[in-house]
Amino acid sequence: MGKMKKFCECLFCFSENQPNIVSNKNRDYPWDIYNLKDLVHATNNFHNDNKIGEGGFGSVYWGRTRKGFEIAVKRLKAMTAKAEMEFAVEVEVLGRVRHKNLLGLRGFYAGGDERLIVYDYMPNHSLITHLHGKLAADCLLDWSRRINIAIGAAEGIAYLHHEANPHIIHRDIKASNVLLDSEFQPKVADFGFAKLLPEGVTHLTTRVKGTLGYLAPEYAMWGKVSESCDVYSFGILLLEIISARKPLEKLPGGVKRDIVQWAIPYVQKGAFDHIADPRLKGSFDREQLKEVIMIAMKCTDSNPENRPSMLELVDWLKGTGLPAGSRKKEIGIVKSAVDGYDDEDEDEDEAYDDEDDETDFEELGTEKFSTRTERI
Ligand SMILES: Nc1ncnc2c1ncn2[C@@H]1O[C@H](COP(=O)(O)OP(=O)(O)OP(=O)(O)O)[C@@H](O)[C@H]1O
Ligand SMILES: [Mg+2]
Repeated sequence: MGKMKKFCECLFCFSENQPNIVSNKNRDYPWDIYNLKDLVHATNNFHNDNKIGEGGFGSVYWGRTRKGFEIAVKRLKAMTAKAEMEFAVEVEVLGRVRHKNLLGLRGFYAGGDERLIVYDYMPNHSLITHLHGKLAADCLLDWSRRINIAIGAAEGIAYLHHEANPHIIHRDIKASNVLLDSEFQPKVADFGFAKLLPEGVTHLTTRVKGTLGYLAPEYAMWGKVSESCDVYSFGILLLEIISARKPLEKLPGGVKRDIVQWAIPYVQKGAFDHIADPRLKGSFDREQLKEVIMIAMKCTDSNPENRPSMLELVDWLKGTGLPAGSRKKEIGIVKSAVDGYDDEDEDEDEAYDDEDDETDFEELGTEKFSTRTERI
C-alpha cells in the first residue's frame, strides 16, 4: 500500500506541466507520459461520438494522435481513492508486461482531476460485443476464430502467471476484458485489479474484487486468491466463447444460474452439441467441442487444487486434447459437481437478464457486497 501511494505521488509529480509526450522507454517504465492537450485533441475533446464504451473505471474514447496512430483513451470518471489505486495498478502492471496477447499500454496522463490511460486501439473491440453485443448478429465469430481467441487469451494469462516477474494474478478475466485486434487476435486487458505474487507465495488473502459469474468459489467466499482463480474465470470464459451464453442468467423467480450449472446436465448426457452457440448452426469440430468443454469443466472444478495450470491449458487447447487417461476422472468431477446442483431447469432456455453483474465485495467475510455499475 505504501509503495502504491509512493507510486501515485510519483505519477502526480511526473504530470505537472508536462509540455510534451515524455518517453520512458529507456527508463524504468516503457510507457509515455502524455500531455492533456494532445489527448483532448486526439479524442475531439472526449466527444460523445468518440466514445467506444463504458466500464467501472470510466469511459473509453477512440482517438487519433497527431502522428496518425489510433488510440483508445480510458478516462477515470471519479477521483476516489479506489479509482486512483486502480489507475496506479493498471499503469504499474501494464508497464511491466509485454506479450502479443496482452493489451499494450501506450502511456498515461495524471494531472489535476484527470486520470487518462492510453492504449493501442483494438478495431474489433471486445469479445463481449461479438458474443452478446452489437456485433453478435452481423459478424459471427466462426469456430476457428473462437478457438484461436481461447488459445491466445490462455497464452496471455500463462505469461502473467509463469513468466512475468513477479508473477501476476489478473483477477478480472472476462469477455469484456479480452479485446480483439484487426486480425481478431486476442489481447487480455484491464489490470486494475491485478495482484503481484511475491516469490515463493502460493496465495494471498484479499478483499474480493471482480465480476459475478467469473469468481472462483474459494475467492468469492474467503478472499483466497491464487493463479487458480484466474484459471476458474478462464474456464467460465471458455464456456461463454463456445456457447455465447452469459456467465450468469436470471431464471424466473429471480434465482441466478451460472453457466457451469447450465452446462453440466448436457455434459452428463453427452449432449455436447447443445452447449455450442446455436448461431454456429453446427459448423464446428464435434470432437474439439467436447474436449474444450471438458477442459472448461476442469478449470471450474470447485477445488482449486484440481484445476490445471495456465501452461497445461495452453498445451491442451493447442493440442485440443486432454492428457491421455484423464477423461474418466473428468466425468467423475463433473458428476460430483452436479450432485450439488438442482437441475430442474436444465431444459429451460430463458432470455438473459442484462443487469450488471460486476461486484466488489467491500469487506471480506461479511457477505457485504453489492451488484453495481461502479467500482467502489
Ligand atoms: N483498447 C481498446 N480498443 C478498443 N476498444 C476498447 C479498448 N479498451 C476498451 N475498449 C472498449 O470499451 C469497453 C469498456 O471497457 P472498460 O474496460 O472500461 O469496461 P468493461 O471491461 O466493460 O468493464 P470493467 O470496468 O469491469 O473492466 C470495452 O468493452 C471495449 O469494448
Ligand atoms: Mg475492461
